Amino acid sequence: MSDQNVQTLEQKLDALQLENEQLRNQLMQSQKMSSVGALAASITHEFNNILTTTINYAKMGLRHNDEATREKAFNKILNAGQRAAKITTGMLSYARNHNEQKEATDLVQLVEEVLVLVEKDLQIHRVNLETRFEGRPFASLNANQVQQVLLNLIVNARQAMDGGGRMVIGVLANQDSNTAEISVRDSGSGIPADQLQKIFQPFFTTKKADARGQGGTGLGLSMCREVIEAHQGRIRVESQVGEGTTFTLRFPLAVVQGDAASNLRMHLAS
Ligand SMILES: Nc1ncnc2c1ncn2[C@@H]1O[C@H](COP(=O)(O)OP(=O)(O)OP(=O)(O)O)[C@@H](O)[C@H]1O
Ligand SMILES: [Mg+2]
Repeated sequence: MSDQNVQTLEQKLDALQLENEQLRNQLMQSQKMSSVGALAASITHEFNNILTTTINYAKMGLRHNDEATREKAFNKILNAGQRAAKITTGMLSYARNHNEQKEATDLVQLVEEVLVLVEKDLQIHRVNLETRFEGRPFASLNANQVQQVLLNLIVNARQAMDGGGRMVIGVLANQDSNTAEISVRDSGSGIPADQLQKIFQPFFTTKKADARGQGGTGLGLSMCREVIEAHQGRIRVESQVGEGTTFTLRFPLAVVQGDAASNLRMHLAS
């Protein structure tokens, strides 16, 4: 093959690699939007409740002249507004963030930010949510990507609990192995052994299209695994048919310096 041919082939390869990278990024973004889509109905529902609260307390404040009633009405309106702001801020930062950087991240805070988005959805589907936080571990993460992983796991868990159930989300630091873990446990259908090998494969899904033609794409877990491995982390699944499923994410604990290190020790000790 002539030098010129080799050069042309190399250029084509570079162009294909670039295109591949761009398609991957687009896929990540649309996967992210589809998990937000899964929550859209419950978030709209919650906004409706917030507006009802605001309107009713505003009417009450206008009707009553006494200071105590007015103060109560203002406080209720303020709380409702703050709750709405928390949800929109969470949504916007989740949907917009394209930051590729990894930084020392407080895992409990990361989980809490995702829970603001899913709480109502779980309540509507009669899922009882419990959190178990042991210590305050930090790991070096791209927080937005890991939130996307967590959201996928939570939506999957909720979808596995038709008719409701119980979800336990845990965060813990394992000092012996120098790792931090986030776990999502559900009391749902469980996964049969023959499917367990396949669930991380792209396009593997058991979810049938609903009336609107929307079923699973089967990309959620494959994207989760890709993100976690890019963090030198691990994703593990344990499941028992009829009992439920636990997904566990494990990351190396962050090495932080100076003030952050003493903060970290303090958090771990707490
Ligand atoms: N918590 C769980 N309980 C039971 N089965 C699960 C659970 N999580 C995943 N699965 C199984 O793994 C399959 C693949 O999950 P994945 O998130 O990759 O795709 P999906 O949820 O089907 O589609 P999408 O994520 O695009 O909505 C699911 O179809 C389901 O069969
Ligand atoms: Mg999924």
